[in-house]
Amino acid sequence: MPNNVVVLGTQWGDEGKGKIADLLTSTADIVVRSQGGNNAGHTLVVGDKKVVVRLVPSGILHSSSLCLIGSGVVVSPDALFGEIEELKASGITDAEQRIKISAGSSLLLPVHVAIDKASELKRGKNAIGTTGRGIGPCYEDKVARRGLRIGDLYDMEVFKEKLAALLEYRNFALKNYYGAPEVSYDEILSQVMAVRDRLLAMVADVSAILTEARANNKKVLFEGAQGTFLDIDYGTYPFVTSSNTVAGGCCTGSGAGPRHIEYVLGICKAYTTRVGGGPFPTELFDDIGEGIRARGAEFGAVTGRPRRVGWYDAVAMRRAVAINSLSGLALMKIDVLDGMDELKICTKYQLADGTISDLPPLAAYEYAKVTPIYETMPGWSESTVGITKFEDLPVNAQNYIRRLEELATIPVAIISTGPERDQTIMLNDPMA
Ligand code: GDP
Ligand code: IMO
Ligand code: MG
Repeated sequence: MPNNVVVLGTQWGDEGKGKIADLLTSTADIVVRSQGGNNAGHTLVVGDKKVVVRLVPSGILHSSSLCLIGSGVVVSPDALFGEIEELKASGITDAEQRIKISAGSSLLLPVHVAIDKASELKRGKNAIGTTGRGIGPCYEDKVARRGLRIGDLYDMEVFKEKLAALLEYRNFALKNYYGAPEVSYDEILSQVMAVRDRLLAMVADVSAILTEARANNKKVLFEGAQGTFLDIDYGTYPFVTSSNTVAGGCCTGSGAGPRHIEYVLGICKAYTTRVGGGPFPTELFDDIGEGIRARGAEFGAVTGRPRRVGWYDAVAMRRAVAINSLSGLALMKIDVLDGMDELKICTKYQLADGTISDLPPLAAYEYAKVTPIYETMPGWSESTVGITKFEDLPVNAQNYIRRLEELATIPVAIISTGPERDQTIMLNDPMA
């Protein structure tokens, strides 16, 4: 019976992590975010209520679960308290009490948003297509060891000094390199002071809570953000986010040791999507892609941007299985493929030099040149919406899923047939 389960994206994000994290949280005591920030947008649907969480762990809808934000996360106070207000409006009034934040989490400030936007403008046609939330610049400051952390708020004298140094550096770049307006020290300081006490009241030792939870046999769910191919090391660099989105990031970003992770659930769509720039070998530019985008409502939960859409990519999946040591898959949005004549699955790549490869290249410029090699399977005309038993799926849908499983070399544990909690086929509950 696994107590420590990771849920993460195996593609380019938006796989449906929120739905599955929310579903599994009904049996979890604690839900942890270990990386990313409010670039994430995880959609939870309960009845006719839809909640999108960005920085807050998806466990927040379950009144008994504790929600932790680890030191690998970049925390924007504006985003955090904005989200807490939204949650209040939808009836969750105790969010602030149930969220605990590590003192080591990075503080994401308006200066990071300014740099993110200016640097995207400067990149012009080579823009990454970031969410514009300041994520990359905040991680830059962290790695450069000039960043501010939540724990720095304890000593305001030191905080002020560090903030002044950070802004001196960043404003120099804004003015002289980007030709953008500078940000004001006084404004940022007063914004921070306005929320300081609230933030400090949420600080806790996340790693110690996890250690104690383990001693007491509690169930912990690690909720990944973004997806494997947006990982800073293993994604399609530089068209990636700035954190480790792969399974290892759950440990470094929360302070849980790697030997304690017992199950890693990879979330993938029955097709592929991507928002922002970067290589996407199986991308569709035709009516078939339009149809999937429309039926799957493939528009970003954070920015509203239309998502790029393509066929399922088993080559990328094999890499995701290896890097994350996936135990099983949750195959999402199978219902979106209802009514299609045929479905293509990319099983191999042809590289630029003609070589046939079972694994994707690591360099983005090589990735951009691969040609997918497809096999074709017949589709199904029946509706799969809301089906809860595998044997009730049309035979062609069953065959498609079994083929994806075979290519991934790991079992499909969950199949999702709609956005709601109960629109799910649970073949093997990762928490049970
Ligand atoms: P996340 O970032 O991985 O949590 O995914 P998002 O919430 O950004 O995007 C997934 C979208 O698909 C959300 O709008 C979900 O409500 C929706 N969704 C999840 N599972 C299913 C499913 O099985 N079928 C359909 N039609 N929609 C789903
Ligand atoms: P969830 O958790 C999809 C993408 C952006 C851009 C790149 C870098 O909802 O799956 P950033 O703002 O992080 O510097 O942007 O990463 N991106 C996501 N795409 N889902 C996400 O999160 C994403 N978070 C970032 O579109 O291409
Ligand atoms: Mg999302």
